[in-house]
Amino acid sequence: PEEGKAEFDLNVQYGKKEFIEGKEAETLGYNGDYLGPIIRVNKGDDVKINVNNTLDEQTTVHWHGLEVPGEMDGGPHQVVEPDTTWEPYFTIDQPAATLWYHPHLLHKTGEQVYKGLAGLFYIEDEKSKALDLPKEHGVNDIPLVVQDKRFTQDGQIPYDLGMRDVMDGFKGDTILVNGAISPELDVKSEVVRLRLLNGSNARSYDFNFSDNRAFHQIASDGGFLKNSIEMQEVSLAPAERAEILVDFREYSAGDQVVLRDGDYEVMRINIVEEAQQSSGIPEELVDIVPYDRDDVVITREFVMSGMGPMVAINGKQMDMDRIDETLNLNELEEWVVTNESAGMGMMSGETPHPLHVHGVQFQVIERNGGEPPLNEQGWKDTVMVESGEEVRLLAKFNKKGLFMYHCHILEHEDSGMMGQFLVE
Ligand code: C2O
Ligand code: CU
Ligand code: CU
Repeated sequence: PEEGKAEFDLNVQYGKKEFIEGKEAETLGYNGDYLGPIIRVNKGDDVKINVNNTLDEQTTVHWHGLEVPGEMDGGPHQVVEPDTTWEPYFTIDQPAATLWYHPHLLHKTGEQVYKGLAGLFYIEDEKSKALDLPKEHGVNDIPLVVQDKRFTQDGQIPYDLGMRDVMDGFKGDTILVNGAISPELDVKSEVVRLRLLNGSNARSYDFNFSDNRAFHQIASDGGFLKNSIEMQEVSLAPAERAEILVDFREYSAGDQVVLRDGDYEVMRINIVEEAQQSSGIPEELVDIVPYDRDDVVITREFVMSGMGPMVAINGKQMDMDRIDETLNLNELEEWVVTNESAGMGMMSGETPHPLHVHGVQFQVIERNGGEPPLNEQGWKDTVMVESGEEVRLLAKFNKKGLFMYHCHILEHEDSGMMGQFLVE
């Protein structure tokens, strides 16, 4: 292939997968039975993707976190009819990051993602290649797509929503990593990079290790952080990503560590071999120039409210024919995002809403009036807003077209917790 050009084929297809031995589940996948290939591009590449829909239903493919023009974004307007091919093309115009792709069909996103349609999208650049980081895919640079499922007796994963699921989102009782239940990962005694994606419909995770060891987060949704951050637990809302470095240099062959969500075992990591060498844990990663709040041209408010089928943003539910906000290209905006959904009566409890914005990577500048945690101070495209919280972010949109903002609890999105904005 020509340098700077990249072309990919994505076949959207039906699949069968034995999540549980001897039991075949009906699934969906890209180029396979479940999930999809990692799409790898370099900054500056001209990319074309051939999305061939072999299903007998409509779908779309959205590039979550990519900054591309609205017509290429793969939102609910770019429907790919059965037996047709959609051929979006775009230039990669943003720094190295771990992004992902998934369907975005109106009212159907939850079901299609749950059945298996999701894949990772890596961008590399000069910086990501130059940094002293683990870079051997599958050896010390490991993709981890974390999802939850609810299996029937015969190992199927039907997407049947009960009232509770409409309220809180569809959550499973079994956690999968890259489509596998109780997976094990073999590594050497070196620094290992885990690229975590919360690819679940509705569940959030608090990732930690069984020995309460510290690790370093090096990247958030939209790329590397300014500095690596030492932490013992990283929380990911649906659609959020984190890259972390785990230092196994002090371990020896035969040792085992468990990646957990709270107390729940997600993945066993076996140290199987002494490493000859290892990357380090760079302290300084990239420059992130903070936006200057004095440059804000317009401030907009987004109030997330309601419960279950009534969830709304600014009191409105998604209408394909209504544009909710009109923005100017390359103008700095401040978005004030609040969550006024609160549990009431029998449905007491929290109603978190992770807000995702298309076509941009933004900077979170405030959480409940204070400084956001360090790992939210990098590029973000999804931000958790718990009941009663207020989050402020700064964003500059550099691609034209029609885009979405929505809650990434997919059942909330499918219920209509989504709006549209036009950048012109
Ligand atoms: Cu990950 Cu609008 O989506
Ligand atoms: Cu998106
Ligand atoms: Cu929500």
